[in-house]
Amino acid sequence: MDAAELARLTAWDRAHGWHPFTQMKQWTDPGHQPLFVTGGNGPWLEGADGRRYFDGNSTIWTNLHGHRHPHLDQALRDQLDKISHVSALGFCNEPATRLAKALVDLQPAGSLTRVFFSDDGSTAVECAVKMALQYHQLTGHPERVGFAAFENAYHGDTMAAATLGGIGTFADRFRRFGLNTQHFASLEALAEMPQAFSEGLAAVIIEPLIQGSAGMRTWPKGMLGGLRRWCDERGVLLICDEVMTGFGRTGRMFAGEHEDVVPDFLCLAKGLTGGYLPLAATLTPEWIYEAFLGTYAELKTFFYGHSYTGNPLACAVALANLEVFERENTLAELQPKIVLLGELLAGMRQKHRRHLGAVRQCGFIAGLDVMEDAAAARAYPWEEQTGARVCLAAREAGLLTRPIRDTLVLLPPLCSSPEDLRHAVAALSYGLEAVCGPG
Ligand SMILES: Cc1ncc(COP(=O)(O)O)c(C=O)c1O
Repeated sequence: MDAAELARLTAWDRAHGWHPFTQMKQWTDPGHQPLFVTGGNGPWLEGADGRRYFDGNSTIWTNLHGHRHPHLDQALRDQLDKISHVSALGFCNEPATRLAKALVDLQPAGSLTRVFFSDDGSTAVECAVKMALQYHQLTGHPERVGFAAFENAYHGDTMAAATLGGIGTFADRFRRFGLNTQHFASLEALAEMPQAFSEGLAAVIIEPLIQGSAGMRTWPKGMLGGLRRWCDERGVLLICDEVMTGFGRTGRMFAGEHEDVVPDFLCLAKGLTGGYLPLAATLTPEWIYEAFLGTYAELKTFFYGHSYTGNPLACAVALANLEVFERENTLAELQPKIVLLGELLAGMRQKHRRHLGAVRQCGFIAGLDVMEDAAAARAYPWEEQTGARVCLAAREAGLLTRPIRDTLVLLPPLCSSPEDLRHAVAALSYGLEAVCGPG
């Protein structure tokens, strides 16, 4: 892209764009030159500035096997030669049916046997929420209308998903328009609630093992298993939101596997298509599905769907994405790289003792807290956007990632090589030193 074209596009973006989670006054400031990403290859991105950057947050936590992966590209081209969209209302398409079967086959035998497709993480959660409420209505428990969620949780931005969220900045404005949700700091806090409370609950929702948007906060070992037991004892449904953790991110295919937990609803999106196209799935067991069966006149039908439900292009690329896990032995190859990432992060923490507080890692997910003075547990004033400035400085060293407030996030594509990981951590370290100073 030449300089004149870049200037024209930048002007159009300033004039007509509205970016998510972005203060547009700051974005459209003439001093801010947005980066147009023009290409990608493996875990690397190319900018309109002619530079290469490592994709340090896997293009907002979606990419697994890299950009322009030949097998995923081919699957998409093959499907394009057949048809790009088929309505799931009244028709089937081959990739969607094959994908549903493949997703069920990834679960413990006979556990989650039904797959409902939607478009993104938020709608995967919306489906689970509506299914949970309707399930209780259909099985004689219309009083189960409440939801329990966790403080600092994030489950998406559509209205129901947003009000399940526990991050005030995102959800507080909308709480009174959304679900009847109560938030808890821990399983222990939830367990203190009286029986009457749990009798009014439709479901509990959790990001298993690690809360992403909270700043990559890990749950204590055993918490997920304990929550499963708590729900079982009280007839409360369990929704596992694996939108971020699904598809190998934690080192296993699904985070629930670490604690042998099968939820009643499993919400999947992001990595489902390897970061290619929007697609989501909500998986549920047969006994929940069966509650929705009846004559048409009984109105037990799940009246929910989107125009692009089960889109064949997205499903074809998702199938190819799952095939790559087999072909490239992705999960086995990942294990030593998880260890290496841990070592590199430990080295970085050692080097930046003054300005790095906690460093958390769960598989190929890492969060590093930037502090004004880590020893004194003193954070930078949040309005200074130190985390964002560190990430901007890390760009100079060839890394793109996005912080969560002052937590630096490193969430590399699963295909990253040891050299790529070394590059990413070195670039982050460069950015930290450039903004906060040495030590
Ligand atoms: C755990 C979790 N759930 C849901 C979502 C929402 O997904 P989407 O942005 O695809 O709607 C996200 C997005 O970051 C997420 O991390």
